[in-house]
Amino acid sequence: MTQSDTKHEQWHWASVVIHWVSVLAVLSLFFLGLWMVDLNYYSEWYRTGPDLHKSIGISLFVLTLFRLVWLKLKGKPTALSTVSRRDHNIAKLAHTVLYFLLFSVMLVGYLISTADGRAIEVFTVFEVPALIYGIDKQEDIAGVVHYWLAIILISLVALHALAALKHHFINKDRTLIRMLGR
Ligand code: HEM
Repeated sequence: MTQSDTKHEQWHWASVVIHWVSVLAVLSLFFLGLWMVDLNYYSEWYRTGPDLHKSIGISLFVLTLFRLVWLKLKGKPTALSTVSRRDHNIAKLAHTVLYFLLFSVMLVGYLISTADGRAIEVFTVFEVPALIYGIDKQEDIAGVVHYWLAIILISLVALHALAALKHHFINKDRTLIRMLGR
């Protein structure tokens, strides 16, 4: 096997870093989101929690856009010969749905925050302007949709993680190992 063949069987290190940073961001957003909605006005996190949630969300949005551009430029590693065509296609579909859900949750979240016409401040570094606001019940409807999309996303993430663990412990292939950059 030549050097370039070997290289093509691995994820690029940047893809690996982006994957795991995204995992951290999605999990933080999910648990922070659930926690912060129960905070009362007297909690010191009452404003900081949502500010942090929005800042991480917008950062993840930018990172995910970059991730797709990066994927286009660098491509994916070749499919493992130990993975059947059927499983490969299911994984491809699951990854596409994951991207779709990620963008949907973030865009609907944007609609909650901007419903009153206020811009979103990202880590006090820059602001994302409110482009769509003032729609009847915008905040309420976007809030419910955001919640359920996040629940569906996390459920699919759990299945995706279980599939990765199955590859590792039952099929004993390199699917998970190579997403760890090894
Ligand atoms: C928030 C959680 C997660 C999200 C949003 C996510 C998303 C994704 C996406 C979109 C891909 C496809 C990469 C691409 O083709 O561009 C991928 C690949 C992968 N993920 Fe995750 N992931 C998450 C959590 C996890 C966890 C917890 C594990 C391990 C336990 C994991 C293991 C893998 C592996 C092994 C691959 C490579 C699959 C392959 O080679 O076909 N992911 N992930």
